[in-house]
Amino acid sequence: MDALGKLYSSVAVVSMNLNGKINGITVAWIVRVSIKPKLIVISIGKTRYSHELLNKVEYYGVSVLSCKQKEIAKIFGTYSGRNYDKFKNVEYTFSKRGLPIINGSVAYLECKIIDKFDVGDHTLFVGEVVDEKVLSNEKPLIYGEHKILEVLD
Ligand SMILES: Cc1cc2nc3c(=O)[nH]c(=O)nc-3n(C[C@H](O)[C@H](O)[C@H](O)COP(=O)(O)O)c2cc1C
Repeated sequence: MDALGKLYSSVAVVSMNLNGKINGITVAWIVRVSIKPKLIVISIGKTRYSHELLNKVEYYGVSVLSCKQKEIAKIFGTYSGRNYDKFKNVEYTFSKRGLPIINGSVAYLECKIIDKFDVGDHTLFVGEVVDEKVLSNEKPLIYGEHKILEVLD
C-alpha cells in the first residue's frame, strides 16, 4: 500500500444533463474547498465521457452514495455513458435543474460550475453549491486503500 491509499474520501455519482442526454460518473476525488461561498471540487479524467459533457453544461449534480450502494458505484464507475445508458436500471429522480439524483443516496447537491483547472490527466471542476439536501441517515460509502470500503467501523 502506498501513502496515497491512506487518503480516504466519500464516493459519489456526479450527474449531468446536456439537452436531455443524461450521464453519471462515480467519483472518489471530490472535496469541499470553500465555506463562503460554498464550493466543492471534482477531479475528472480527461478521457471520460463525463469530461466531455461537463465542458458543455452549466451545472452538475452530486448523489452522495450510501454504504448500501456499492453496486451503483460499480455501474457508474465501470461503464461509459458514451455507449451505455447507466441510468437504465437505476431508480432516480430529477433535481430542480434537471439533474438525475439517485434514489437511496445519503444526500444530494446541485452545483454551478464556476471554474475549471487543468491538472495533469484530470480537470478540476469547481462547483458552487446552489441546492443541497440530506436524504437519509445511512452511513456514506467510503473509498480508501484504493478500493470501496463500504463502511468504516
Ligand atoms: C470507486 C470509484 C471512484 C472513481 N473516482 C473517479 C474520480 O474521482 N474521477 C474520475 O475521473 N474517475 C473516477 N472513477 C472512474 C470513472 O467512474 C469511470 O472511468 C467511469 O466509467 C467513467 O464514465 P464516463 O465515461 O461515462 O464518464 C472512479 C471509479 C470508481 C469505481
